[in-house]
Amino acid sequence: MASEHLVLRPGEDGVNGYRWLTGLVVPRPIAWVSSISAAGIGNLAPHSFFTVASARPPVVQFTSVGAKDTLSNVLATREFTISVASRPLLGAVNASSATYEAGVDEARELDIEMRPSVVVAPPRVAASPASLECRLIRTVPVGDSTIVLGEVVAVTVDPDVLVDGRPSPERLAPISRLGGDEWGLPPEVIRVPRPD
Ligand SMILES: Cc1cc2nc3c(=O)[nH]c(=O)nc-3n(C[C@H](O)[C@H](O)[C@H](O)COP(=O)(O)O)c2cc1C
Repeated sequence: MASEHLVLRPGEDGVNGYRWLTGLVVPRPIAWVSSISAAGIGNLAPHSFFTVASARPPVVQFTSVGAKDTLSNVLATREFTISVASRPLLGAVNASSATYEAGVDEARELDIEMRPSVVVAPPRVAASPASLECRLIRTVPVGDSTIVLGEVVAVTVDPDVLVDGRPSPERLAPISRLGGDEWGLPPEVIRVPRPD
């Protein structure tokens, strides 16, 4: 074990800030984002720069690194869904990250079954145990990236993943993104009561 930590300053020669962040901010949950274009073409792509942004109102955020079809669709139609990426879906989630032409619907191309959402127009992934239906609040540009903030206007969840009315992490079996092309499998779960 090295006794001194390396010091790296993003922006300096040879220091790729993106690589260090994606390798160290781990594991990241994966938002499987479904959107539709103004012309009505569907789109499905994973985004691991994803988290809860606010409690009341319930808001989530994901980040588009660069200009992608998902971002232009969300800007055009102001709605999207986020489906939970669970273990059995890993292959399909990964496949949907391939670069397709803007006019190509990844779900149709890859035979990923979608089902209509309850409130918003973009559909959700049929095999996902849960989906968040979102309306765009605003986008925040940061350098080459754009943070997308969406209010969750509906949650759909398979009752089979609930225990005592709450999502069970064991049943949800979420996969995650690590650095490079590494993925995290569903985590080992321990339960620790919070201190008073
Ligand atoms: C697990 C995983 C996580 C990803 N996370 C992001 C992300 O947070 N932001 C992003 O812009 N691209 C991310 N990507 C890459 C996009 O999925 C990819 O660029 C995709 O082609 C974008 O599709 P679109 O142009 O149809 O929106 C990720 C890819 C994978 C496999």
